[in-house]
Amino acid sequence: MIERESTFAGAHVLRMFPSFVWKAEIRPEIRAPLDAAILKKLAAVGPDVTALAPGESWQSDHRLHLADELAPLAAAIQAAAAAVLEHLAIAPRALAITGCWANVSAPGARHGTHSHPNNFLSGVYYVQTSEGAETINFHDPRPQCAIMRPPVKSLTADNADQVVVKVEEGTLLLFPAWLMHSVDPNRSRYLRVSVSFNLMFSAYAESMAAPLWEGGVRRSA
Ligand SMILES: [Fe+2]
Repeated sequence: MIERESTFAGAHVLRMFPSFVWKAEIRPEIRAPLDAAILKKLAAVGPDVTALAPGESWQSDHRLHLADELAPLAAAIQAAAAAVLEHLAIAPRALAITGCWANVSAPGARHGTHSHPNNFLSGVYYVQTSEGAETINFHDPRPQCAIMRPPVKSLTADNADQVVVKVEEGTLLLFPAWLMHSVDPNRSRYLRVSVSFNLMFSAYAESMAAPLWEGGVRRSA
């Protein structure tokens, strides 16, 4: 904060262009049957994940949202996405879940930095976490900031280039699909199980992508 009482009559910080991660906890009464359904589904479609070697991970196919038994998860994702549109003051529009897949990570398994192209929102639901396997990292989306990183007195939300978000079983995260993120190696002795997903406007090409201007004669100012 700028403070030079003798020089300035006032000073304040303008905060602009924020990057959001929306975090919610699924109610226990919904979570218990949902997690059971997810684990049962994974047991049916996947390999024996208990046989994963250290450092190995497994991803399911990306159509889990279409499975009847995971309908409560799809509903929770849609409800959270609607709340995100409300927060961003975006007029309500249908969002389609375009992909939904499970991630099972053995001890030592990590997930490198990436984003989820061609979608508006992405997110993760956490089914099984434990100490040492309960974080996700979000990275500063302003690459030009890396050009100058002077030493800081202390790491704060205003000077960090990475934010580590702690999650627990039942946490539902949503974030912009363009926001780069990564997962550190699983430092627990247990499998980490999560379900990732993407959302896109259902009728993007039909109703949102056309130019916002009309043709006609214009005079330059
Ligand atoms: Fe991701």
